[in-house]
Amino acid sequence: MRPEIVLYIAASIDGFIADGDGSVAWLDPFADALAGFDEFLSSVDALAMGRVTFEFALRHPWTYGPRPTLVFAGRPLPDGPAGARVLPVRGHPGAAVDALPAATRRVWLVGGGETNAAFLESGLIDRIRLFVVPMVLGSGVRLFGRGVEAHAPRRFAARRTERFASGVVELEFTRS
Ligand SMILES: NC(=O)c1ccc[n+]([C@@H]2O[C@H](COP(=O)([O-])OP(=O)(O)OC[C@H]3O[C@@H](n4cnc5c(N)ncnc54)[C@H](OP(=O)(O)O)[C@@H]3O)[C@@H](O)[C@H]2O)c1
Repeated sequence: MRPEIVLYIAASIDGFIADGDGSVAWLDPFADALAGFDEFLSSVDALAMGRVTFEFALRHPWTYGPRPTLVFAGRPLPDGPAGARVLPVRGHPGAAVDALPAATRRVWLVGGGETNAAFLESGLIDRIRLFVVPMVLGSGVRLFGRGVEAHAPRRFAARRTERFASGVVELEFTRS
């Protein structure tokens, strides 16, 4: 059986996950919303991300351990950090997810926008934990990359909300 795929991500009110420079420094004042992150991370067996997000992650300490990490890329990737288990993949995300170890029960779809769009288009996103940050950025990297107009409408069901002291609101949805 295919693992549950969870998009766990922060976005501005206007739906951007990075600003026009590709930076996520605007998220820094809202770190209280990460309160449940360690528990979430311990519940995932594998990660999936795009090349741009992988290269961003390489500039920071690798805190994801040896979990299999699918990195979608059309071009050769830089080496992963020591201790990481990087699996370069391309093409249909479903085939890559199906090639994960059989014991994989939950995958964290890390981003970024282009990779999120590929998973959405393939109907693979089972759950979305969206941390809406109380800022309007105006431009940047869209939550679903190439823009919602490029996708067929997809219905999700609201499951839960949580408000953090910084003003971040988490919205949790599952595929309906
Ligand atoms: N706010 C948050 O919580 C959050 C979370 C994650 C990321 N981000 C931000 O999002 C930004 C990156 O997003 P992005 O949309 O620019 O890039 P991305 O999705 O991280 O990576 C895009 C790249 O992934 C590869 N790719 C995607 N789908 C593919 C497929 N089906 N087959 C083969 N390759 C595929 C391509 O690599 P090639 O160019 O090699 O072909 C493409 O250029 C960064 O600024 C990052 O910091 C924010």
